[in-house]
Amino acid sequence: MDRLQKIIAASGITSRRKAEEMIVQGRVRVDGQVVKELGVKPRKGALIEVDGKAIARENKVYYLMYKPKKVLCTLHDEHGRKTVVDLMSEVEERVFPVGRLDYDTTGLLLLTNDGEFANEIIHPRYHISKVYEVTVNGILKTDQIKQLENGVVLDDGIRTLPAKVWITHKDFERQQTSLELTIQEGRNRQIKRMMEVFGLQVRRLHRRSLGPLTLRGLNPGEYRLMKPYEVKQLRRLAEEGRLK
Ligand code: URA
Repeated sequence: MDRLQKIIAASGITSRRKAEEMIVQGRVRVDGQVVKELGVKPRKGALIEVDGKAIARENKVYYLMYKPKKVLCTLHDEHGRKTVVDLMSEVEERVFPVGRLDYDTTGLLLLTNDGEFANEIIHPRYHISKVYEVTVNGILKTDQIKQLENGVVLDDGIRTLPAKVWITHKDFERQQTSLELTIQEGRNRQIKRMMEVFGLQVRRLHRRSLGPLTLRGLNPGEYRLMKPYEVKQLRRLAEEGRLK
């Protein structure tokens, strides 16, 4: 059961912090009774009113998108750049991206209005494999591959978990290496920072899969609803990963 402020925020009328203020100000009723304490957990199906108006309860929805290039993983951009949410204008629920792919990164992205689910999937404590196709400017050496496989220390002092590395192409003429990299965490700009350890820059980055999910059937910019069994499967994987 969720707390009152969370339910109000999830209905889309305001933020969680403002919802708390509204509760304390006595503007919220649960089944006809004013509730002024924070942290109350209304029964399922309770009638919740803010300023005398019943709030709409949003269904939880889960989407899988093929994120194209040059689209931001934020809800809004002050410079007017396109966001992933702009691509989903016909979706009524207020979805947000689960984690981030950089502006120029393409590939598999989840979007949902379920904050709990999002936390389970993106928190580095819950290990779900993500496969990236990477091209870097330089020839990756054998000992660097070993280091990636064992875990490297990033600029913030955190050591990455062991990764799987599969070199797909070494282009000596253009001095580029293409590889598939499977990582378990999803730290901020993780792949780029892993490559920066060796002074290499990422030229192309594409997330091919997340756990059992792939982009099959989708073109860049397209998305689909996840099947209930896929949501369950991801939750289960996250839970199993947490215990490791
Ligand atoms: N790692 C990165 O550096 N960028 C991404 O977009 C995803 C993973």
